[in-house]
Amino acid sequence: MTAGISKKRVAVLISGRGSNLAALIEAAQAKDYPAEIVLVLSNRPQAAGLARARAAGIATAVVDHRPYGEDRACFEGALQVQLETHRIDIVCLAGFMRLLTADFVRRWRGRMLNIHPALLPQFKGLHTHRRALAAGATKHGATVHFVVPEMDCGPIVAQQSVAVLADDTEEALAQRVLEVEHRLYPQALRAVAEGLVTADADDGNSPHSND
Ligand code: GRF
Repeated sequence: MTAGISKKRVAVLISGRGSNLAALIEAAQAKDYPAEIVLVLSNRPQAAGLARARAAGIATAVVDHRPYGEDRACFEGALQVQLETHRIDIVCLAGFMRLLTADFVRRWRGRMLNIHPALLPQFKGLHTHRRALAAGATKHGATVHFVVPEMDCGPIVAQQSVAVLADDTEEALAQRVLEVEHRLYPQALRAVAEGLVTADADDGNSPHSND
């Protein structure tokens, strides 16, 4: 990164374990990394990732979705307050298990990333490893993409594959993909923070790969 250019301020949104969060935190400790993790936001008070963030001295906030019931816009209003308070430039979803409204997603258009444990556009949604095995896929992997209103769609920032082995179990495959995720997300965030990869003007699905 060029001296004198300020780092992008990043919020990581989680719901659970936070291993991708940990990978982002570690990467962002490098002096030349173009982004800093300044906020970790969880919709679940018990998310293990919150402790990882606190241990790293990063501000945390919990916006519990439950009191909002079906009112997703109101829940997102509370998220937005946190993001604005911390002057966030880029949002990284990392195991954040809430669907976001089209309005909220559009507000963060080109500035919100997600990591998905599959080679998109294959296996959108949940249980990707199980479904990849059931489908007899020979290749599986992970994708970082810009978030658009349609779930697990949006311009691809980076993607990396792993071979599916003959004796793979769901757990073994998940673990191999997770190791890829931990390298891929920091690389993708770097590319976006440096402005090397941008979202399409038309919200399309055309890939922007940096690998
Ligand atoms: C990861 O597999 C990620 O791809 C998916 O949710 C999982 C989150 O894991 N979106 P962790 O909380 O980062 O460990």
